[in-house]
Amino acid sequence: MLMASKLTPKLITSLILPSCLLIFFYSRLLPLYTTPSPQSPTSKIPLLPPPPCNLFKGRWILDPSRKPMYDSTCPFHRNAWNCIKNQRENVGRINSWKWVPESCDLNRVDPNGFLNLMRDKNIGFVGDSLNENFLVSFLCILRVADAGAKKWKRKGAWRGAYFPKFNVTVGYHRAVLLAKYEWQPKQPELAGQNGVKGIYRVDVDIPADDWADIADFYSVLVFNTGHWWGYDKFPKETPLIFFKGGRPIHPPPEMSDGLKVVVQNMVAHIEKVFPKKVLKFWRLQSPRHFHGGEWNQNGSCLFDQPLEEEQLDWWFDPSNNGVNKEARKLNHLIEETLKGTSIRTLDLTHLSEFRADAHPATWLGKKDAVAIWGQDCMHWCLPGVPDTWVDILTQLISYNLEMG
Ligand SMILES: *[C@@H]1O[C@H](CO)[C@@H](O)[C@H](O)[C@H]1NC(C)=O
Ligand SMILES: *[C@@H]1O[C@H](CO)[C@@H](O)[C@H](O)[C@H]1NC(C)=O
Repeated sequence: MLMASKLTPKLITSLILPSCLLIFFYSRLLPLYTTPSPQSPTSKIPLLPPPPCNLFKGRWILDPSRKPMYDSTCPFHRNAWNCIKNQRENVGRINSWKWVPESCDLNRVDPNGFLNLMRDKNIGFVGDSLNENFLVSFLCILRVADAGAKKWKRKGAWRGAYFPKFNVTVGYHRAVLLAKYEWQPKQPELAGQNGVKGIYRVDVDIPADDWADIADFYSVLVFNTGHWWGYDKFPKETPLIFFKGGRPIHPPPEMSDGLKVVVQNMVAHIEKVFPKKVLKFWRLQSPRHFHGGEWNQNGSCLFDQPLEEEQLDWWFDPSNNGVNKEARKLNHLIEETLKGTSIRTLDLTHLSEFRADAHPATWLGKKDAVAIWGQDCMHWCLPGVPDTWVDILTQLISYNLEMG
């Protein structure tokens, strides 16, 4: 195995903090769906019933008979994630792993049954490209039940599809920080600061235009943000500066505090603007798997099987300070903010942490792409892991619509 020799010393280090870390993380994962979030006594939000079991905890089992539900010809593909077309190695094997929750079955989505349930309703994704990755999987799977599916485009929606047989639209609104943000060239008040070329002004209390007017259109919404909250996207020379009520926040928050303020404000906005009956999910972080360096330092994900459970903390526990540590950190902050709201967490992080084998890696469908951008160990091959996200999301939607 590629990793064996490099892993050993680190693994030993991580064994110094053995069971306490494991217990800590499992105790955080387990209660998600077994205990309802606290509600204020005056709240009129009906508490959604917990699903019959925790779909987020389990393991991957190799099932060679398992086949993807769509191929490289799905018209909703994005080229860089179309791993079959790009002749990625092991695509068959990537799709032979089946997620098995600990205490129940995860059924594969029945596209016809699901679209029937959703008849005359719409589903929206709001967030960054990892939600678009999710969307493409969703569209390609649903299309199995309606070959007449058409590309759908509307002001404010980046892309999506309309399923005429069922009168269902599934749309994606690109809003990488969720809040509105815009580039502002060098400001007089920053004149003293060395090297600052300008700022990205983030209005923490204003949603990005792309999803500002969608409150009456969707019955189900899936939000996310997270992958843009890093100093590689917004370095010190072009920083994020946070505004509230039209004025800069003082003292200026660091990026992670800014994220917290944005999530708090966006959650408050969602709770205020969207009807109570809209089923709302917040998808937690999709983990990255850069091994041996960051994305721009030859970080690589040429693995041919999922990670072992014992390896996950070494890769992802923030205390190990690894390349991919931010997902669990951000999750913690987001989960804190979502407590007591009507927004349900869609904790796809843990199951995805295993899948170092399932990214496009070097097979990006474009000459020189790897030399310029490095490997893609962040997005997922399609068909691939997001198909399991779809199984989980549709099972939770079905459960909640049937109960409601
Ligand atoms: C399609 O669904 C929308 C709601 O999304 C509804 O307003 C409209 O009447 C439906 N159209 C038909 C033909 O049923
Ligand atoms: C990445 O790999 C290339 C080619 O092997 C090498 O020239 C370059 O120095 C490496 N970059 C880093 C940051 O390690």
